[in-house]
Amino acid sequence: MYPFLRRSLAACALLASLALPAAAQQFPNRTITVIVPFAAGGPTDTVARLTAEAMGRDLGQTVVVENAGGAGGTIGSQRVAQARPDGYTLLLHHIGMATAPTLYRRLAYDPVGGFETIGLITEVPMTLVAKKDFPATTLQEAVAVIRRQREALNYANAGIGAASHLCGLLLMKAVDTQMTTVPFRGTGPAMQELLSGRIDLMCDQTTNTTEQINSGAIRVFAVTTPQRVEALPNVPTSTEAGLPDFQVTVWHGLYAPKGTPAEITQRLSRALQVALRDPRLVQRFAELGTAPVAQAQATPEAHRQFWLADIAKWRPIIQAAGQYAD
Ligand code: MLT
Repeated sequence: MYPFLRRSLAACALLASLALPAAAQQFPNRTITVIVPFAAGGPTDTVARLTAEAMGRDLGQTVVVENAGGAGGTIGSQRVAQARPDGYTLLLHHIGMATAPTLYRRLAYDPVGGFETIGLITEVPMTLVAKKDFPATTLQEAVAVIRRQREALNYANAGIGAASHLCGLLLMKAVDTQMTTVPFRGTGPAMQELLSGRIDLMCDQTTNTTEQINSGAIRVFAVTTPQRVEALPNVPTSTEAGLPDFQVTVWHGLYAPKGTPAEITQRLSRALQVALRDPRLVQRFAELGTAPVAQAQATPEAHRQFWLADIAKWRPIIQAAGQYAD
C-alpha cells in the first residue's frame, strides 16, 4: 500500500479513536429522544414524560418523548436497538423487556444483546378496572360475571407482552376462564374505549387509572400488590379480595443502543438519579400510585442484573403457557 495512503489511514484511525472520548465529553450537545414503545397518553408515556422532563433539567438539554407503538412494544424497541449508539436515542420500556425475549421468537433485533442499560425508574402497581356500568362492585362479583359471560366480555390490552396482556393472563389463569381480548397500541387509547363502555374490563397501571378511578369514571375491583396503594386507599388488594395469585407490578427502565460508550450511559444514569430525586417527579409519581426506585437501582449494573433475572423468571412461565407472539 502506498506510504502516503498508509499514513493517511493511520491518521484517520487516530482521529476516530480521539473523536469518541471528545463526543462523550461534549455529551449532550443536542436534543435527546426517548422512544416510548406504546401510544401517547398511556402509563409508559406518563412515566417517560415525567422522567424526560426531570432528566433534561440536569442534562441542560431538551429530552423529547416520541411514541412508537405496536406489537406489544417490540416495534419501538427495534427502533432503538437499531439506532446510532451515541446517547441521543433512548428507550423507556417496562416489564415487556423481560417477556419479549421468550414471547417473540422471530424478532428482527436482539431483545437482550441490542441494548445497554442505564437504570431502573419505578415499579408500578396494576388495577383491575371495568366500565362504569359493569354489573359488579366487588372482585368476587366481577369473577362471577367473567365466569358467566366469558368471551362475551371484551378485555383490552396493549398487545402481546404488554403489562396489560400479562396481567390478563394472570387474571384468566386465577379465574380459570377466557375473555375476548382486544389489542390496542397502548392502554391510553384503550382507556378511551373503557370510558365509552365499548370495552368491559382492563388491567392497567395506576399511572393510567388512579385519576379515572378517583373521579368515578371507571369501576375498580383490586390492586395487584401485596399492600394497598396510598393513592387508592379504599381499593382492596387482590389477596384481600380473594385472588391471592393475582399479583403483578410493572417495572420500568431506561436503555440505549448496544455500543453506546460507557461514559455516556454513566452520564445518563447520573441524570436519571437526579431526576428520581426531583420533588416534582416524586410528588406526581405519588399522586399516580407509584414511587421512584432507590437510587442504587438507577444504575446500569443494577438495572442489567434485575432485567436478566426477570427474563429468567418469566421464561418458564411463558413456555408453560405455550402462548407465543410469533
Ligand atoms: C401496557 O399495558 O404494557 C402499558 O399499559 C402500555 C402503555 O403504556 O400504553
